[in-house]
Amino acid sequence: MWHTFVEEVRTGAGADANRVFLHGSLQSIDTIEASEGERLISGIGELDRVLGGGIVPGSSVLVGGEPGIGKSTLLLQLLHRIALTGKKVLYVSGEESAKQVKLRASRIGAISENLLVLVEINLDEIVKHVENIHPAAVVIDSIQTVCTPALASVPGSVSQVRESAERLILLSKQTGIPMFLVGHVTKEGSLAGPKILEHMVDAVLYFEGDGAHMYRIIRSVKNRYGPANEIGVFEMKEKGLEEVTNPSAYFLAGRRGTVPGSVVVASVEGTRPILVEIQSLVVPTTLGIPRRTVIGVDANRVSLLVAVMERVLGMRIGGCDIFLNVAGGVRVTEPAVDLGIISSLISGFLDRPISSGTVIFGEVGLTGEVRGVSHVEARVREASRLGFNTCVMPLMGGGKEIGYESQIERIFKIEALDRLMECLF
Ligand code: TYD
Ligand code: MG
Repeated sequence: MWHTFVEEVRTGAGADANRVFLHGSLQSIDTIEASEGERLISGIGELDRVLGGGIVPGSSVLVGGEPGIGKSTLLLQLLHRIALTGKKVLYVSGEESAKQVKLRASRIGAISENLLVLVEINLDEIVKHVENIHPAAVVIDSIQTVCTPALASVPGSVSQVRESAERLILLSKQTGIPMFLVGHVTKEGSLAGPKILEHMVDAVLYFEGDGAHMYRIIRSVKNRYGPANEIGVFEMKEKGLEEVTNPSAYFLAGRRGTVPGSVVVASVEGTRPILVEIQSLVVPTTLGIPRRTVIGVDANRVSLLVAVMERVLGMRIGGCDIFLNVAGGVRVTEPAVDLGIISSLISGFLDRPISSGTVIFGEVGLTGEVRGVSHVEARVREASRLGFNTCVMPLMGGGKEIGYESQIERIFKIEALDRLMECLF
């Protein structure tokens, strides 16, 4: 478009000289020396797990999330925990003054002489300080504020963000110091700046949650050192973020029990099973085009499942207004919730409640087949731990997992949707 080209003036060689570091000689893979190094355990269990079991030396982690969600708070808490073990840590702030950082730190009790604060946006200065202090961990809050004098563009521009991130990641690899980069998100919810930023770092963590609920979920979207999609659950309290160690109980709190449209599903986010309630309301439409309002699961997935219900179960639900919500405001991403979504819609459509002791999981295909899912044992165990007595699940799948049947009173295994009704009511 007119006026969209921006001139970049490069004034120094700086970063280019460093770029060769990661490149090198040709080697046979069996002769390459590599060990992950000892992970730094922060002591914040939920965060350590999301990172794959602690912080890997020399790793770079991008932490994204909406303004005010708690990025600065969590990372300050993280640094404080490490500082308590007697190690020096560095918090670089480009957005807030030292006084503001201090005020927040006092509020959450993150005061330690080992926690150093640097208010700086000049990349060269930041690098110099990191090299001098050699802290055990560094937080850059945020990457959008850092700029290098080698480029003429303003902080936050694509080239500045990329250049700064590249230098910091390289620094972290060279020194073994783990680096946490806070990243802003755009209005659409993706990380601001170049997409390449997400490719450059070792792990990308996203903060989720909304203003109406006090819980916060931190999710690993990418992790070179652990499972992706792992989540950690926190609650925002007066004194910072507190871990929620029993998320299923937390998300199911406030459930009304046996009511039409309500179903509990066992979803595995990352490696941990979490029970959540799906609620739906299916009512005759008052408009020409039926409404679909879906919160907490993929709306396209719901449309697809509605079509399957029409075709396979012969339910005339397509012409109804459908409102579907995952209670508590949590978001579930895996296809194993399909069967739960369908059950909830059936229950809402027929206005018949499903027993509140039932947990449902399974993926549903376009022809109405119920497909196997992973982590069957973990799901059943979680259901039984929280006092549920019935599971509706796929016939296939589970792989080698055995012995889970004894953990729960009743198990219905189905191969296709046509048998679903008899298991539900
Ligand atoms: P913050 O960490 O500044 O968010 P971010 O860095 O992602 O923009 O979090 C700020 C919000 O968290 C603010 O709205 C107030 C709230 N908060 C608490 O409820 N309790 C606390 O102890 C702190 C420090 C913040
Ligand atoms: Mg902040």
